[in-house]
Amino acid sequence: MEISVIGAGYVGLTIAVGFASLGYKVTVYDKDEGKINFLINGVAPLQEPGLGDLLKKVNNNLEFTHNFDDTISSSQILFIAVNTDFKNGKVRLSNFNRTIKQILRQKNLEDKTVVIKSTVPIGTTENVEKTLKGKFGNKVRVAFNPEFLREGHALQDFLNPDRIVLGVNDKVTKEILLQLYEAINAPKLFVDFKTAEMIKYASNAFLATKISFINEIANLCEIFGADIRKVSDGIGLDKRIGKDFLNAGIGFGGSCLPKDLKTLIYLAKQKKYEAKLLDSVRLVNEEQISRFVKKIEKALRGKPKKIAVWGVSFKGGTDDIRDSPAIKVIKQLIKKGYEISLYDPKALQNAKKELRGNVSYFDNYLEAVSEKSALLVLSDWREFLSFDLDETRRRMKDYYFFDGRNLFNPEEVKSKGFLYFCTG
Ligand code: UDX
Ligand code: UDX
Repeated sequence: MEISVIGAGYVGLTIAVGFASLGYKVTVYDKDEGKINFLINGVAPLQEPGLGDLLKKVNNNLEFTHNFDDTISSSQILFIAVNTDFKNGKVRLSNFNRTIKQILRQKNLEDKTVVIKSTVPIGTTENVEKTLKGKFGNKVRVAFNPEFLREGHALQDFLNPDRIVLGVNDKVTKEILLQLYEAINAPKLFVDFKTAEMIKYASNAFLATKISFINEIANLCEIFGADIRKVSDGIGLDKRIGKDFLNAGIGFGGSCLPKDLKTLIYLAKQKKYEAKLLDSVRLVNEEQISRFVKKIEKALRGKPKKIAVWGVSFKGGTDDIRDSPAIKVIKQLIKKGYEISLYDPKALQNAKKELRGNVSYFDNYLEAVSEKSALLVLSDWREFLSFDLDETRRRMKDYYFFDGRNLFNPEEVKSKGFLYFCTG
């Protein structure tokens, strides 16, 4: 079986390299010519652990092309992994719809299986199937196969998933997909299209709910004087709750959790259902940013408005700043007249494109803190934990330490002479 992947983003490129490592021949198309040129030269255009190395290793099984039609003709299985969006109160499917139009321009799609990886509103796959079968007849097959990979663990998550969800409408497609994923040892859940689409939204909405839940409890811990980290441990040990995604802080961001949550609320509204719980999850997440900013303002009243920030990506381990809570905190602080010195191990280039105003950028974490009143930790890079806090303190003018990710051990930070603030 030969595979094509349309869209060489985090999802598309990961699955392309992943399938190539399983021995499949994979052709990759992206409308962004720069990306394809990078890939033709053996360079991954995005930061993902292990991806660049594996890309080089399995290069013989990979082909990158600027030509959409070549992509289609060369394969039996066609993955669509272009990005979908939610902006200004609406679902944005223009990239996805464009791809479907490009597919419709083909002469023949006989015996090809179009597999949708992009997260799409419930009912989309059914419409795509109708449209494609309407033009090409019953010999074209359609499936929806959501991707659950996390950035920073993308390859690992693709090759060792907790489950593979497959939305199919007929037995032949089921057999083809079983064969495709044969080498991956994970439960395979075959369901109808709409159920598969809902599983994707529900998974991300649930993870978002867990985070807003723990953030609300953390806010209550602050009010009542309890310790959120121990509360998280205490409830997480209950297997029914589970310990993952109970880390309090400035909230969730990234290209998926906020978007999928808002989309589900929007889809519900269109059907005249008010998704009250999900809307509160969204609200708690948004307010977490201003709560944190208020905490900073209150503590720093009367101090020079010079602040260092470590971490701008939406979480540690990635250069991705899409919907990053760190960016939101920084923007609010700039508006309030603060001067920001920013350090991030990988995301500075992306941050430069997004931030305006009083920000300077540092490749060195110690230079960033020099003569500053406060240090904010806004994404959870593990490597921050091995930074030299004694030297950090020596270089600072004042010793305010705001940990927006509850990353550091409070006692340890305090023992270095800092005034430590976190969530809960
Ligand atoms: C993926 C999914 O596709 C999205 O639906 C899901 O909700 C999140 O994960 P992701 O891989 O993160 O998106 O997106 P991105 O990194 O932006 O990659 C998408 C790629 O598709 C880009 O490289 C873009 O250039 C390409 N693209 C977009 C096309 O090739 N054709 C288009 O018409 C539009
Ligand atoms: C998410 C889903 O986990 C993945 O299954 C889906 O395919 C894509 O969306 P990702 O966007 O890579 O993956 O990030 P994730 O690790 O889920 O983190 C999302 C956000 O939540 C980050 O901003 C992170 O910092 C935040 N988070 C996570 C918390 O604030 N607390 C936690 O306990 C966990």
